[in-house]
Amino acid sequence: MLRLAIIGAGRIGQVHARTAYAHPCAELAVIADPVPGAAAAVAGRYGARATESIDDVYADPSIDAVVICSPTACHVDQIMASVAAGKAVLTEKPVDLSVDRVDECLAAIAGNEHRVMVGFNRRFDPGVIELKTRLDAGEVGELRQVTIISRDPAAAPAQYMLSSGGIFKDMTIHDFDMARFLLGDIAEVCASGHAFIDDIRGIGDIDTCSVTLTAATGATATILNSRVCAAGYDQRIEVFGPKGALETTNLRTTGVRASGAAGTEVAGPYLPFFLERYAAAYTAELDHFITAIEAGVAPSPSISDGRAALVIAEAAGASLASKAQVPVG
Ligand SMILES: NC(=O)c1ccc[n+]([C@@H]2O[C@H](COP(=O)([O-])OP(=O)(O)OC[C@H]3O[C@@H](n4cnc5c(N)ncnc54)[C@H](O)[C@@H]3O)[C@@H](O)[C@H]2O)c1
Repeated sequence: MLRLAIIGAGRIGQVHARTAYAHPCAELAVIADPVPGAAAAVAGRYGARATESIDDVYADPSIDAVVICSPTACHVDQIMASVAAGKAVLTEKPVDLSVDRVDECLAAIAGNEHRVMVGFNRRFDPGVIELKTRLDAGEVGELRQVTIISRDPAAAPAQYMLSSGGIFKDMTIHDFDMARFLLGDIAEVCASGHAFIDDIRGIGDIDTCSVTLTAATGATATILNSRVCAAGYDQRIEVFGPKGALETTNLRTTGVRASGAAGTEVAGPYLPFFLERYAAAYTAELDHFITAIEAGVAPSPSISDGRAALVIAEAAGASLASKAQVPVG
C-alpha cells in the first residue's frame, strides 16, 4: 500500500485525489494547499488529512509518494524537496517553464530520476494506446505524417493563463510529447500563431497556433491548437503511412447518431473538457505510477521526457518570434 499526498487541490489535484482514493493499492493520506480551506474542502471528501503547509508533506515519514498539482512555477522546488525527503513523485506537466530550471532539478535529484514521473496523461488514453500498438505493429507501414488537433472549449481563467507560461508550454506541451511518443526525436520546429481573443492578446500570448515538427526520420507532425472551440473539447490524432492511416476520434456524450428532415448523422456533443475526456487516462496514469513505484521500476514518461517536450516548446517560441524554422536541442 502506497501512502500518497497531493500537493495543490485545484482542478487537476481533485482529479488525482479522486483516483488515488479509489485505487486499491494506494491510501490518500494528505492533501496540501496553502490557500486557506482549499485542502480541507477536498480532504473532507476522502477522510484524508488536510494541511496548509507544504513542508508538512516532506516532514511526514509515512508518506511514500507525492502527486504535484500546484501551479507550474512551483513544480521544480516541490520535486526537489519531495525527492530529498525520500518520496517518489508524479508531477503535473509541464515540469517547469524553463529548460535551465529543469536541468537544475535533474542535477539536484541525480540518482533518483527513476522515481519521478511526468503527467502526460494522453499517453494513457485507451484510444492512443490502441493507435500506438497498431502503429508499432506496422499497420500503416513507415510512419510519414502525424496530425494532432487539440482545441479547448474555452480559455482557462485569467489568473491561470497569466502564470501558465503561454500556449506552447502550457497547452501544446501535451502535443509535443505526443509527437515524440509517436515519432521519436524531433529535429526541427516551425510555428505560427495569432491572438484572436483580446484578453489573451492583452497578456502577450496567442490563442491559436499551427506547429510543424520534423522528426529525425524525415516524418512530420502537424499540430493545430486553439484555446476556444464552439464544438467543445476537440481531440484528434491521425497517423499516416504508405499502407494507410489510423485515427483516434472525439468521444461524445452519446454514441447514437440521428438523421431526419433537419439534418443527417446528428451526433451528441464532444465530451466537455479534459476532466471527462481523459478520465480513463488519468486513472491509468496513476495506476502506472503506483504500480511502477511499488515494483521498484522507473515509471514513464520520465522527467527527461518532460524536459524534451519543454525543449520543443522553447524552440516553437523562437520559431514564432523569428518566423523561421528552428532546430531543436
Ligand atoms: N495533465 C492535465 O491534463 C492537466 C490539466 C490541468 C492542469 N494541469 C497542470 O496542473 C497544474 C495545476 O493546474 P490546475 O488547472 O489544477 O490549476 P488550479 O489553479 O485549478 O489549481 C492549483 C492549486 O494549487 C494551489 N497552490 C497555489 N500555490 C501553491 C503552492 N505554492 N503549493 C501548492 N499548491 C499551491 C492553488 O491554491 C490551487 O488550489 C499546472 O501545472 C497545469 O499545467 C494538467
